[in-house]
Amino acid sequence: ALWSWPLWRATSLILVVSLFVVVFNYSEKPYILLAPVFNSHWMFSRQPHKAFKPHLGYISIPNQEPLKLNCEVCIVVSSSGQMLGQAAGPEIDRSSCIWRMNNAPTRGFEHDVGHRTTLRVVSHTSVPLLLQRPQYFFGQANDTVYVVWGPLRNMRKDGKGMVYNMLRQATINFPHARIYLTTEERMNYCDMVFKKETGKDRIQSGSYLSTGWFTLVLAMDVCKEIHIYGMINDTYCRSEGYRKVPYHYYEAGSRDECAEYLLHESAPYGGHRFITEKAVFAKWAKTHAIKFFNPPWQQS
Ligand SMILES: *[C@@H]1O[C@H](CO)[C@@H](O)[C@H](O)[C@H]1NC(C)=O
Ligand SMILES: *[C@@H]1O[C@H](CO)[C@@H](O)[C@H](O)[C@H]1NC(C)=O
Repeated sequence: ALWSWPLWRATSLILVVSLFVVVFNYSEKPYILLAPVFNSHWMFSRQPHKAFKPHLGYISIPNQEPLKLNCEVCIVVSSSGQMLGQAAGPEIDRSSCIWRMNNAPTRGFEHDVGHRTTLRVVSHTSVPLLLQRPQYFFGQANDTVYVVWGPLRNMRKDGKGMVYNMLRQATINFPHARIYLTTEERMNYCDMVFKKETGKDRIQSGSYLSTGWFTLVLAMDVCKEIHIYGMINDTYCRSEGYRKVPYHYYEAGSRDECAEYLLHESAPYGGHRFITEKAVFAKWAKTHAIKFFNPPWQQS
């Protein structure tokens, strides 16, 4: 024998140890990848769908009632320029739950985005834009539910929250307006979900969650099924010959969507991580009834 018995034993010991190291290193990564899948089951509980279940993270002003919605299939209409020229309006209008974001208008775009609005998820920064047309948003559209998100500094109720003050005034001027605020706990929860899914601390990474993120977190809680129109996937902007569209369908001539996304993705401070968020949505779509239209996503 070329190898003496003790040498063979030593070699096999080294082999076993290095195999262990390899297995250990490998088993760490799949754990990190798998954990969020587990967590998204836990975070978005799969209880049977209950209509009108109160959603405690969203409280009305001024009466402090929890949000109650009766939505089975929710249509989420993105504000993206992808909505243009797809003539999805009639299809969208057939639904009983139509969600939009911020001040995205319907007038003049009905053929592409539909007429009706059941709910709007609104960023604190977009509240002044709604208040440029208060009669339209809170008077005429008094059957639309508004769910506003924002940081405590703008939303605090002690007189120092500028956005809260504006909304409070709107409920005085338009007593039938249905306005809900995202609670501080729910805001923290949305940050926590981001951290669990991406491994990144939202604040430390210098980013803000997008209105799309808050919309999807709410929709996962409320809707049995989610149909999203006009949202691109996380690889869209790196794909050959993608469709160049305005960032918002109602802002013709603005920077195009992918340029805006790439700018945000790499901004050291104050950016939205739109592309990272889309990768998370793709993952959620594997375990939840989420479908993407115009452009469609390849879903297994
Ligand atoms: C609510 O909107 C409807 C339809 O636009 C309108 O007829 C009604 O007067 C509005 N109600 C209030 C209280 O503003
Ligand atoms: C993402 O979008 C691009 C461009 O539309 C498409 O080619 C690709 O197949 C999509 N990927 C998935 C996973 O949907």
